[in-house]
Amino acid sequence: MVLIALITTTMCSKQSHHHTLTSPDGKLAVSFSLEDGVPRYTIRKGDQTVIDTSRLGFRFQNMPDMDKGFELLEADTESYNETWTQPWGEEKEIKNHYNQLAVQLRSPTENLHLNVIFRAFNDGIGFRYEIPRQTSYNKVEITSEGTEFNFTANHKSWWIPGDPDSYEYLYKETSLSKIDSANTPVTFKASDNLYISIHEAALTNYAGMRLSKEAGRNFGFTSDLVPWPDGIKVKGELPLRSPWRTIQVADSPGGLIESNLILNLNEPNKLEDISYIQPMKYVGIWWGMHIGLNTWHKGPRHGATTANAKRYIDFAARHNIPGLLVEGWNKGWESWLSGKNVQDYTQPYSDFDIEEVLRYARDKGVKLIAHHETGGNIPMYEKQLEEAFQYLEDHGIHAVKTGYAGTMKPEGMHHHGQYMVNHYRKVVETAHRHNVVIDAHEPIKPTGIRRTYPNMMTREGIRGMEYNAWSKGNPPSHHAILPFTRLLAGPADYTPGVFDVLLQKQHEERKKRVSKKNLKNRVHTTLAKQLALFVVFYSPLQMASDLVENYQDHPAFQFIEDVPVDWETTKALNGEIGQYVTIARKDRHSDNWYLGSLTNQKPRKLSVSCDFLEEGKTYEAQIYRDGKEAHWKNNPTAYAIDKMSVTRENDFQLNLAAGGGTAIRFKPVE
Ligand code: NOJ
Ligand code: CA
Repeated sequence: MVLIALITTTMCSKQSHHHTLTSPDGKLAVSFSLEDGVPRYTIRKGDQTVIDTSRLGFRFQNMPDMDKGFELLEADTESYNETWTQPWGEEKEIKNHYNQLAVQLRSPTENLHLNVIFRAFNDGIGFRYEIPRQTSYNKVEITSEGTEFNFTANHKSWWIPGDPDSYEYLYKETSLSKIDSANTPVTFKASDNLYISIHEAALTNYAGMRLSKEAGRNFGFTSDLVPWPDGIKVKGELPLRSPWRTIQVADSPGGLIESNLILNLNEPNKLEDISYIQPMKYVGIWWGMHIGLNTWHKGPRHGATTANAKRYIDFAARHNIPGLLVEGWNKGWESWLSGKNVQDYTQPYSDFDIEEVLRYARDKGVKLIAHHETGGNIPMYEKQLEEAFQYLEDHGIHAVKTGYAGTMKPEGMHHHGQYMVNHYRKVVETAHRHNVVIDAHEPIKPTGIRRTYPNMMTREGIRGMEYNAWSKGNPPSHHAILPFTRLLAGPADYTPGVFDVLLQKQHEERKKRVSKKNLKNRVHTTLAKQLALFVVFYSPLQMASDLVENYQDHPAFQFIEDVPVDWETTKALNGEIGQYVTIARKDRHSDNWYLGSLTNQKPRKLSVSCDFLEEGKTYEAQIYRDGKEAHWKNNPTAYAIDKMSVTRENDFQLNLAAGGGTAIRFKPVE
């Protein structure tokens, strides 16, 4: 149901104006004020201040600034209430219910116009700027967006540095005053019942935003846009709209996880035929390269050979895994990371008979996921883009993983700047024309674009599994922070599922190839926690990332076989940021429920109520848990599989080992 009420108030140019907009449940309020010509906003929840009075506005290279000297022309309010359906995702039906305030500002001296649109939802606030066409200007060069986010106190914060090229960091937990610059989402705990996360939605033809501190402002940040090489932040024709600045607000950490604010602030699906878009699990010729067993380029240890691909297809077909990723299938990997990075996306290596692999895969019902590693060489990739995707279409390949690891070209461009935002979008649009879905690595951050382009399925932009292979890796707390930070923005291709957590199975072989230092690397979880990640970390393309031989004869692989990637609904049952989290999701295509729970380095007993299960049904719970003596450090692979019968009346006791987890399938008993 769509309900729109329009009230227009035309204001005469008084000295001061205040407009307050509340969320549909009345609990959250955003106020806009114009005093002495300076536009500001404030956000409150009940009697707590979420964002203290903060300025709005812009500075330009080619036009007078738009951050003061304004008068209010108009303030319009309206309400909207609809429910829309996601083609795939964590939630099938999404309620989009908000109140809106649109203010129109004008600076009389310069005759410049600026609009700000606020939307108040029960789960947060979004606002965006519209710079209309001006009488004397039809283009802009933004040198700074002066949106402030002023907090009231030195909140506890979870953040990664504001690197303009990478999201592949461990999160820091510090007080807010320790943040200089951070990539969003940044999450804050203001009190025991006030959690806040700042991000952006619908990042289109604009630069990515970081939160940066200016000297002397301890509890306040300013939106800091990633620049072009010449220092300009955004170049555009008028009218121009900024992305939505999003402030998710919840009274518990789990409330942030259940929020749909980011998706609701994106435009509806604009693709027509989306029948080729299929969420799926996949295995891949991948981990072998990261642990030093195989190479991407052709040679004696080449991973992407016809024989190896067939071996993976056999495994996938036997275990109900629909997809196979093949990295290193195409010519050019010799130049990767050389600074040159020239690849050919239509030329398979001679030991990879793509026609034969595709025939074999088709016979066994397995779909290929191709790979385009650009090494960051954008002109090289864009030149081939059309034919590269035509090639995929001609071969009936509907999914590609893209990569941007290497030295960025053109020089001085950043992964999160406007040039690259537009490049990533161009790839998504080209892919759609050829019926291909995207899994982007080294991407632009997710901002809910998947609603508009459902073929933009998943991406990295996360410090994923690969770090365990060739660095100190990801500590047990990492997985307990991500659901409350990076994953609030959207799906992540973390690539869970390494069963050989100590990286011992191929030790003898690796000893010949891997440096002493790297031989010590390992995964910092228990095996059961790897299973829990399949529920806790959402990705519509979800990888079972270990070598298939390491899954052989492992009863725990049954969970990966069973767990879906497309959900009807999602509930965060409990959680403390950085400590633990439990998520339950209902399968979209059956009556089964799944639960994933995980902890940081501390062992933990958690009691969860099963009241998410359907009334009147009895379920068989198949429980994959840490073994009695399991510990991520010295006994990570001890696990047990139990079965018990439960109804929604039951409370469930979860025993998580240090660095451990539990994964459960609840299947109704006929
Ligand atoms: C980095 C990606 O994250 C990884 O998944 C991929 O295997 C390599 N680049 C090579 O493309
Ligand atoms: Ca990466």
